[in-house]
Amino acid sequence: MLHPDQSSAPIYEALEQFRKARVVPFDVPGHKRGRGNPELTRFLGEQCVGIDVNSMKPLDNLCHPISVIRQAEELAAEAFGASNAFLMVGGTTSAVQSMVLSACKSGDKLILPRNVHRSVINALVLNGAQPVYINPETDDRLGISLGMRLSQVEKAVEEHPDAKAILVNNPTYYGICSDLQGIIQLAHENDMLVLADEAHGTHFYFGEGLPVAAMRVGADMAAVSMHKSGGSLSQSSFLLTGPNVSPGYVRQVINLTQTTSGSYLLMSSLDISRRNLALRGKEVFRKVVEMAEYARSEINAIGGYYAYSRELISESVHDFDVTKLSVHTLDIGLAGIEVYDILRDEYDIQIEFGDLGNILAYISIGDRQRDLERLVAALAEICRTYQRDKTGLMNQEYIDPQVAVTPQQAFYAEKESLPIRETLGRVSSEFVMCYPPGIPILAPGERITRKVLDYIEYAAEKGCSMTGPEDPELRHLNVLKDLDYI
Ligand SMILES: Cc1ncc(COP(=O)(O)O)c(C=O)c1O
Repeated sequence: MLHPDQSSAPIYEALEQFRKARVVPFDVPGHKRGRGNPELTRFLGEQCVGIDVNSMKPLDNLCHPISVIRQAEELAAEAFGASNAFLMVGGTTSAVQSMVLSACKSGDKLILPRNVHRSVINALVLNGAQPVYINPETDDRLGISLGMRLSQVEKAVEEHPDAKAILVNNPTYYGICSDLQGIIQLAHENDMLVLADEAHGTHFYFGEGLPVAAMRVGADMAAVSMHKSGGSLSQSSFLLTGPNVSPGYVRQVINLTQTTSGSYLLMSSLDISRRNLALRGKEVFRKVVEMAEYARSEINAIGGYYAYSRELISESVHDFDVTKLSVHTLDIGLAGIEVYDILRDEYDIQIEFGDLGNILAYISIGDRQRDLERLVAALAEICRTYQRDKTGLMNQEYIDPQVAVTPQQAFYAEKESLPIRETLGRVSSEFVMCYPPGIPILAPGERITRKVLDYIEYAAEKGCSMTGPEDPELRHLNVLKDLDYI
């Protein structure tokens, strides 16, 4: 039974009051309810610029909330089954980083799968913690990384009993879940915290028949992308914490990097979306699941494609998020990124991403049946028109990293820039990844192997958007100068 207050949205209500009050602004932002920037006002609308305001007495302050933001956070905590919730305006990146910075400091160990989003390893660059990577198994056919097997986590815990925390993707971008409950039990028996990256798992808290939601099964912290499956505005997110984590300390950590001018557009969108999901989430996600199941069976009926689901469940796939429409494309002779490009260029269909062997169409709260039919029809036509022999296509999505130094040591080390082909055997001081999904192929501190170079070259040639290095053309890579690491 939901607490009746879930039907309120304190930030939204305070902004509505504020709008009526016609307060005279001698504060920032300087556009003064849009009057100083008519072009922007025409573009975004008066409704929108009129609530783009700064912290003030009736609207509270994100850095030290005591009234309406605090209430919105309390309601969010209740809705997600957490002890505390923090409104985040720097994307889930800021939530993930605050989570890692709260759990570990310089020199501390963090156990994590290597197929994490860049924000996790970025946090290690910031705080100097040491990654203890678990190499997830790769599905041979799909080429995607699976979850962490419990036995792998047990081994890592045994070998590194001094680790401070275990980080888990719940789920991965592709929908794969590890045995979160088993990991939480193991971690807590060994005095470690469990941090869940739930950038792709907001709906787990509200839907039925979906994988477990981290805070509901005792995780210590979770970074939840409300703006992904939850329907709020881009960049808005929640950080959730459990009873073993000091909320005051977490707030201090958040304030190390958070803006002092939190956007009320973002905060009100979190408030309204939380209310919507608390009141209607079960029904919303029932429809999302239905749409995804429909599209999956239609795509599988085309032949050639493989839209995968719960049949993947095994020791390395504890559960699967059926709202994820992940489709393997290699059997029609096209890399995922090629299908992605054709859908965009020829059919005006924008999907979430394409990698070497798969595409992901994100199905959520805002989708319509007729758009799904358009996607299915486009995929059928692509199969008929572009199908070719798959010889020579690569599908390996995961390469075991060879870690030489910590991400922070590597990022701040003396470095030199070398033509990429001359970096074989050297240690990288920067990231290389395809974005999305943003899982590093190479992270600072890792050795550059032949496999890594081949992968980067192939992904770039297929048209993946490569990011990370100082040289945006990726002709050069920064490597450690210290010859001890050669
Ligand atoms: C697994 C994962 N974690 C964290 C993030 C960061 O989210 P945001 O883009 O909101 O900063 C992403 C983004 O795609 C992600 O895929």
